[in-house]
Amino acid sequence: MRKILFASSEVHPLIKTGGLADVSASLPIALQQHGQDVRIILPAYRQCLEAFDKIETVATIKLDGFYLPVEILQATLPDSDVILWLLHSPEHFDREGGPYGLPKSGDWEDNAARFALFSRAIAVLALDQAGLDWQPDILHCNDWQTGLAPALIADEPNRPATIFTIHNLAYQGLYPQSAFESLDLPESLWHSDGIEFYDLLSFMKGGLIYADHITTVSPTYAQEICSYEFGYGLEGLLSQRAKEGRLTGILNGIDNNEWDPESDQNIRKTYSVTTIRNKLMNKAAIQHHFSLPENYDALVLGIISRLVSQKGIDLTLDAVSALMESGANIQLVCLGSGEASYEQDLRMLRARFPDKVGVHIGYDESLAHKIEAGADVFLMPSRFEPCGLNQLYSLRYGTLPVVRNTGGLADSVTDATDENRKNEIATGFKFESSTAKALEERLLQAIDLYKHPRIWRKMMITAMEQDYSWEKSATAYLELYDSL
Ligand code: ADP
Ligand code: GLC
Repeated sequence: MRKILFASSEVHPLIKTGGLADVSASLPIALQQHGQDVRIILPAYRQCLEAFDKIETVATIKLDGFYLPVEILQATLPDSDVILWLLHSPEHFDREGGPYGLPKSGDWEDNAARFALFSRAIAVLALDQAGLDWQPDILHCNDWQTGLAPALIADEPNRPATIFTIHNLAYQGLYPQSAFESLDLPESLWHSDGIEFYDLLSFMKGGLIYADHITTVSPTYAQEICSYEFGYGLEGLLSQRAKEGRLTGILNGIDNNEWDPESDQNIRKTYSVTTIRNKLMNKAAIQHHFSLPENYDALVLGIISRLVSQKGIDLTLDAVSALMESGANIQLVCLGSGEASYEQDLRMLRARFPDKVGVHIGYDESLAHKIEAGADVFLMPSRFEPCGLNQLYSLRYGTLPVVRNTGGLADSVTDATDENRKNEIATGFKFESSTAKALEERLLQAIDLYKHPRIWRKMMITAMEQDYSWEKSATAYLELYDSL
């Protein structure tokens, strides 16, 4: 049994902006099921404090660079018995809004301080200096918000082995040099082989340079980030790590209990491979929900997404409107929030095609399940996608993904080529170039295949039979922990 400290800035169901939260709950649970002693550390955001009736203070610590002491609160992750430590610093985390800012108002101005504080606390726990009498063998950090922790403990003699997982290289935690100075970070970290990145402070580099091993969330993304196109200037460093055998891609798993069409309480009618025709009732339900005609012949395309450039929302808008203009029998149901211009464009598409498009701007867990169950096809034309979870949920719900051939999408969907269909391994549709035209062409093939119910049904069943549970991936992490 290993002791693993798992550090993340989001954990479902307490606080979530994207897939990081899902992974930061389901991976620790899977590791615990493999007999490991896992503890999670997360900032005590207001939402987290409100989620628990009773919460115990187990330590009070003073962190370098910060004036007031902070507390470590202890609870258990909901629906599990994984121990959860919450870093309580009201000044930094007990406020209205999301984990990184107020909706539509950009990031908090003190994010560098908030996540430096978080990283400092992670470092103290990793060295067992909080008086909790628990020293991890492994410190597993996730994304830039935790990036300074491996750097802070790199030279400590009795430190745990450190792993840093990149969930999205596009967000790096870059701040001016003045932030570095005001945070009282060790001078020895400020150089180009340290956390300095072209005169800026890079939280991400703390993880990339100082962790013993780097992982990212799919094998294809692990290769892509070593290239100019996806590396954001870090491709040289990442290629070097890859050469040293210190960069690995491990595909995320999903929580098969939470995302299970056979027992999902959010959907109108549960179904499985043997009762697959019940999926149609969910299609009618979602059409009804969005006030669209309850037409079984229309191919219903679903989207659940952060509305940002990464996700190729503009490609969807152009491809779908071209198809609708040409009279294709399709409907689009979309749940998402993010950049105001995409929200506006989606509303305009709805205004143009009121009997074909349904849009819900906002965040709604239950509606996300209903769309997964009700749509025929799930759209993820991402420009890049480190892993992506929604295509995995879609496969499980027999909702065939249409994806761009990148990152985790490339690693999890098998394209409906003639050969793959003949071999009965096709599970979705892939296209290469990041253009609306390429997406439109692929959608035309999906529309065509949908007219052949037997072929379509076979693909649905193959998709539903795929196993993307954590079993395989949790074992890969355990092997990696062992190798360190
Ligand atoms: P990313 O982390 O880049 O946003 P993922 O596909 O890994 O992409 O994970 C997205 C997660 O967030 C999924 O669990 C998805 O269902 C959820 N999600 C995204 N937008 C919404 C929304 N508007 N309402 C409900 N769930 C959402
Ligand atoms: C990031 C990525 C997404 C991935 C998720 C969980 O948010 O954008 O592709 O699935 O992290 O690892």
